[in-house]
Amino acid sequence: MMPNPNTLLEQDQDHLLHPLHHPTDHRAPLLIESGHGVWLRTVEGKEYIDGLAGLWNVLIGHGNTELAEAARKQMSELAFCSTYIGSSNLRAIELAERLAGFAYPNLNTTYFASGGAEANESAFKTVRYYWKRKGKPGKVKIIARHRAYHGVTLAAMSATGLPMYWEMFEPRVPGFVHVAAPYPYRFDGEVKAGETIGQAAARLVEEAILREGPDTVGAVIAEPVQGAGGVIVPPDDYFPHLRQICDRHQVLLIADEVITGFGRTGDWFALRRWGVQPDIMSFAKGITSGYLPLGGIQISDEIRDAIRTAEYGQRWMHAYTYSGHPTCCAVGLKNLDILERGGLAERAKQRGRRLLAGLQSLLEFPKVGDVRGLGLMCAVELVADKESKAPANLGNKVRQACLDRGLFTRSIGDILAFAPPLIISEDEVDRIVTIMREALETVGT
Ligand SMILES: Cc1ncc(COP(=O)(O)O)c(C=O)c1O
Repeated sequence: MMPNPNTLLEQDQDHLLHPLHHPTDHRAPLLIESGHGVWLRTVEGKEYIDGLAGLWNVLIGHGNTELAEAARKQMSELAFCSTYIGSSNLRAIELAERLAGFAYPNLNTTYFASGGAEANESAFKTVRYYWKRKGKPGKVKIIARHRAYHGVTLAAMSATGLPMYWEMFEPRVPGFVHVAAPYPYRFDGEVKAGETIGQAAARLVEEAILREGPDTVGAVIAEPVQGAGGVIVPPDDYFPHLRQICDRHQVLLIADEVITGFGRTGDWFALRRWGVQPDIMSFAKGITSGYLPLGGIQISDEIRDAIRTAEYGQRWMHAYTYSGHPTCCAVGLKNLDILERGGLAERAKQRGRRLLAGLQSLLEFPKVGDVRGLGLMCAVELVADKESKAPANLGNKVRQACLDRGLFTRSIGDILAFAPPLIISEDEVDRIVTIMREALETVGT
């Protein structure tokens, strides 16, 4: 029997605290019951394209029974086993082995967590640990960027560069310093004569390191393409410069590939596009296509050696109960099979080009200020007019108009984000563009 939507809604409102909770946002949520491919189905039987692949994570699409079977099999054999002192498990070992060198050749060691914020907490603590082991205990500050999103546990929230995430939870953890994002459409730093925006944005990081004092700065954290901050694709010269700056001042580079990892941008990992290797990489989301919670960090061989050669009293006292959870790792392994078998990074590149080209055709609307993307990570930014780039305050209306036409996605202020599952077909890509065009016409942009 179909559950009564009104009863469910009442129960939701009475008992469930949602992420970013405010009751006005949950007056009429979609009650999703099932999913298949890129499609979501509500309890009332309405179907929607999942324009954000869950939360950027459902890379292989919904309803994949191979992952369900991998979880069932592992749970029947050994659902959970700790990887704490003196025990390990087969799936965690297999997945760590499979990931060795998979993202970047210098990252051969993995620590597993359950999600992105836990991964970033692990990264920050590992930065502190590493510099202590190197005899530089003062290197504890982290440089992050405006509009960055790194999760909402206390340190991750402090790295996040979106003030609305801080305001009701201040004070933040000290030592996180923010500089301008490499946001070509709205770069808020100074560009000197002869400089590109990429060079200027990287220079701001260097200036922050010098201002704070290189002996106090442990790392820079950066999403290769900023996701929740508005799908900000950096200029091609930004990351190569950033890498050089980090090396010049002995500062580690943490790549937060929680969204961009495992194919979303059209490369298996996004910094590869720019020939850059990080010292630490955070990952989550796509590793299991969101079927079970799994994340983690990969660390460079140099950082690994600092951990391995420590005296017992200086051991890396960091731990999560669910680190190396065998069922999550089994699902991760199967998910990697599916991603590789399907050539889904390449698929993201091809379908991403089609999606971007389709969305770029919307630039003819007077209030579409910018369209950008890399792989299957795209955005349309609305403005009051193209000259002033003033806020249009239409993001939510356009999002609702998309929803009315069967496309479920998110608006970040005036920015509409599109990051569907990588298995999306060409027809489904075209459907997203058509719906977005109709939504813009309806809202009168
Ligand atoms: C780049 C990035 N880092 C970290 C996180 C936090 O991940 P989680 O919500 O799993 O803690 C997110 C979540 O969207 C993210 O996009």
